[in-house]
Amino acid sequence: MVTEADTLREKDPKNAHRLYLEASESYLRLSRAYPQHESRLVNEASALYMKAQSLKSKGNLKNQARAINQAIILPPDRSFSDVAGLESVKDDIKMKIIAPFKNPDIFKYYGKKAGGGIMMYGPPGCGKTLLAEAAAGEAGLLFFHVKASDLKSKYVGETEKNISELFSQAREQAPCIIFFDEIEALGQDRNETNHIGRGFVSQLLTEMDGVGTKDSKVLLLAATNMPWMVDTALLRNGRFGSSIFVPPPDKAGRLGIMRMFLKDKPMEALDLGIIADATEGFSGADMNAVCNEVLDILIKEFFRTGKKRKIEYRDFADVLSKRKSSVVPWFRKAVEHIHRHQLQDYYEDVLDYVGGKDGRREFSRHA
Ligand SMILES: Nc1ncnc2c1ncn2[C@@H]1O[C@H](COP(=O)(O)OP(=O)(O)O)[C@@H](O)[C@H]1O
Ligand SMILES: [Mg+2]
Repeated sequence: MVTEADTLREKDPKNAHRLYLEASESYLRLSRAYPQHESRLVNEASALYMKAQSLKSKGNLKNQARAINQAIILPPDRSFSDVAGLESVKDDIKMKIIAPFKNPDIFKYYGKKAGGGIMMYGPPGCGKTLLAEAAAGEAGLLFFHVKASDLKSKYVGETEKNISELFSQAREQAPCIIFFDEIEALGQDRNETNHIGRGFVSQLLTEMDGVGTKDSKVLLLAATNMPWMVDTALLRNGRFGSSIFVPPPDKAGRLGIMRMFLKDKPMEALDLGIIADATEGFSGADMNAVCNEVLDILIKEFFRTGKKRKIEYRDFADVLSKRKSSVVPWFRKAVEHIHRHQLQDYYEDVLDYVGGKDGRREFSRHA
């Protein structure tokens, strides 16, 4: 369907538009059927939606923005129980975002200002997007999943209008959460010559300040793998005033992720704690990949031998002999950046994770 639409783009934009929309809808349906792939499928759906919209008359920007945003509202059907480990991060989000929102009186009573947003940062594949979706589900709120790179790349020069349209729509739909995923794509340093980014950040700041002051019911979350590329104006208090480090899962987290993945898979009575011990430093996505590769072994074996069997330790050993943590380069880059720019005080959590200001603990084992 998509390739057909691609070939029709020039000749028959109207039909191409329809095909893109249909494809986008199928992806949305799939995302509900396969919650474990939800974020990827929803991203696919919104990319196709954008393709469809790009074929429409350019004059109708307001409607375009509306459509983009609507396409990425997720039904909140996730909760924190879908996120293994990360207990202190969950507590932080509950305390800073969900609690003030649900109990405004208590916060008023103690003179604590609600509002502002939370920026999650950390290596890729460790659950930032998942946490944002879970927070929305937990609070039972509509969820605008705004992928910064999409918003920016497609509507060069119109991004400011899109952002103000997004916020006005969010106010209409409130209570809700706006989640800026990959926010570094928007918030890149305004001092750079790229004036598209500059207008965008200014617009975003104006809108965010509005959200913070009138006790509006729009919560803001953001995530980035590249905190060092985020415009510092976005990090000041009242904007994304708090940053939370989302680390790779600890042993309990790795265990939890494996249990979720292997829940209804054929497996001997294995002690997964042994596997969790052997995967220190692995991201959540790495853990899923390990389990996937283990299943591949059994499936390939079936095609060779025609025999089914259950997962055994040796399958994990096989996979782990070839696989390393994917987050090591991230930590290397982060530590280098922190030292070069003297940011030790801002990134204490990252430094703690790698073993203090100088140490390199366990972690280097995977390098
Ligand atoms: N703590 C976790 N609990 C359960 N699954 C996780 C966890 N961390 C990562 N995952 C898995 O890895 C995938 C990638 O995580 P994601 O939230 O997209 O990472 P990020 O946004 O930090 O790059 C998720 O879809 C999920 O399947
Ligand atoms: Mg993500």
